[in-house]
Amino acid sequence: MLRSNTCGELNINNVGQEVTLAGWVQKSRDLGGMTFIDMRDRYGITQLVFNMETDSSLCEKARKLGREFVITVTGKVAERSNKNPKMPTGEIEIIAEDFEILNESKTPPFTIEDNTDGGDELRMKYRYLDLRRNPVKQNLALRHKVSIETRKYLDSKQFFEIETPFLIKSTPEGARDFVVPSRMHAGQFYALPQSPQTFKQLLMVAGYDRYFQLVRCFRDEDLRADRQPEFTQIDCEMSFVIQEDILNTFESLAKHLFKTVKGIEIDEFPRISYDDAMKYYGSDKPDIRFGMKFIELNDVAQNKGFKVFDDAELVVGINAEDCGNYSRKQLDKLTDFVRKPQIGAKGLVYVKYNEDGTFKSSVDKFFDLDALKSWAEKFDSKPGDLMLILAGDTDKTRKALNELRLEMGNRLELRNTDVFKPLWVVDFPLLEWNEESQRYHAMHHPFTSPKAEDIELINADPGAVRANAYDMVINGVEIGGGSIRIHNKELQKRMFKLLGFTDEEAQSQFGFLMNAFEYGAPPHGGIALGFDRLVALFGGSDSIRDYIAFPKNNAGRDVMIDSPSGISDEQLDELGLKIVK
Ligand code: AMO
Repeated sequence: MLRSNTCGELNINNVGQEVTLAGWVQKSRDLGGMTFIDMRDRYGITQLVFNMETDSSLCEKARKLGREFVITVTGKVAERSNKNPKMPTGEIEIIAEDFEILNESKTPPFTIEDNTDGGDELRMKYRYLDLRRNPVKQNLALRHKVSIETRKYLDSKQFFEIETPFLIKSTPEGARDFVVPSRMHAGQFYALPQSPQTFKQLLMVAGYDRYFQLVRCFRDEDLRADRQPEFTQIDCEMSFVIQEDILNTFESLAKHLFKTVKGIEIDEFPRISYDDAMKYYGSDKPDIRFGMKFIELNDVAQNKGFKVFDDAELVVGINAEDCGNYSRKQLDKLTDFVRKPQIGAKGLVYVKYNEDGTFKSSVDKFFDLDALKSWAEKFDSKPGDLMLILAGDTDKTRKALNELRLEMGNRLELRNTDVFKPLWVVDFPLLEWNEESQRYHAMHHPFTSPKAEDIELINADPGAVRANAYDMVINGVEIGGGSIRIHNKELQKRMFKLLGFTDEEAQSQFGFLMNAFEYGAPPHGGIALGFDRLVALFGGSDSIRDYIAFPKNNAGRDVMIDSPSGISDEQLDELGLKIVK
């Protein structure tokens, strides 16, 4: 061993001990007679002291140490005269007796400090240096803890961890596949899994009963803060269960993780139907850390001569408590916000409920005091509040009001990252109509079973069929989703037909699964939680990149290894590929 202790563990109880430490030079201070060096490893920082009087040549040598040099030091633990209560090792220092340089280092391109001077791109290029920084290390420690606790919990519930292959054939999760050309089968391709969906179902057919895997998934889709092209799922499947069993099992997993990782007891895990989520929050992933539920106003606001409302399919608003004092400028800003192309509202109607019981609104011309009073009643508004109202097509208006609600939540600081409000969204529609392709798409994926009571609607009104599908949502983030699966070949075939597959296409892509259903497939269902999202949520961040050791940048590139990149003509030849320039 090159060390007797780590740089994070020595304290006042070790005073007098002879120790050997190994690590990196964080910084050095030369005070003439003394040289102080902060030495860092994964566990912490320890101060080393070199004394000119006791050993001038050692001290001279130590002065030459540069930042990030790797050294081992032997010396005696001593009590510090100038203690640093902020550091676990802040009561002691090592009086150095000898040291050895294990490796030199160039001066790093940015400081290895909590608040570094390095920009994003530079830190990504030298990710191994960025990873030395405390905040990044803490994020990965959190990730480790969540993975260990997940494994412990699922193991205690008899889940088997089983790996499934990466070189497979397309699994339809709604994104594009990354594909891998085959050398041995020129002109043919593997697809990387968007999820292990079909394999986990086959494991249920095989009788494994409870499966899980912390598994990498690959999706070629537009990137956002909460999306990476390769990401990790806590992927699970169970046999002989109904939806209720799955919700209970994974609610308990979430509670276990909150307790063991964050020290937080979660009491409530409410459920809301997809229809209600859309009606009250305009989103299938509502953030319920705060109120401002949608209130529909069609019955009190239409047919009063205001054309915008009269022509609208939906008139709907939110009540922002204590915002009645918003200035003209603030209201204009909100109007600009909802008019942004990505939000898409045409305008915003506001009603201020004045402290004296009167109202001031942007539609005073069309609505008298009684009318506005009736709105205030619906909103359960009180003097000092502000009502914000949008009107138009139902789906678009709900979507825009969802954005406005979240924006108001941010402005009013109601989205506290230390507060966690999970919920289940249930009863998703089985299918959703796609205007572009003019056909139905599976809302979840094609293996999701319709609700038994809705099956008869499948031909007459496919859009109205609800699925045994559910999402776990925490603080407005879709953390996971799953469903009870179809386990009957005929129903699966019918589903593919509804989704526009010919029998031949369905057979060639998913024949293996439908054939397996002919050999005693048990009823089964499951869920996959987005592991990176869960960890980022625990860490209080929207960005999953900070919780992945080697992430891709926003353009899907790894700038450290410079990937993706071209390959040689020989490799292309071997793969039977030609690039047409
Ligand atoms: P789904 O597609 O909903 O379901 O994925 C499950 C969860 O994975 C996370 N997720 C992502 N995280 C980071 N980057 C991405 N690009 C990304 N895409 C998805 C989300 C999401 O809720 N096979 C089904 C699960 C099942 O039915 O059991 C599936 O993959 O948190």
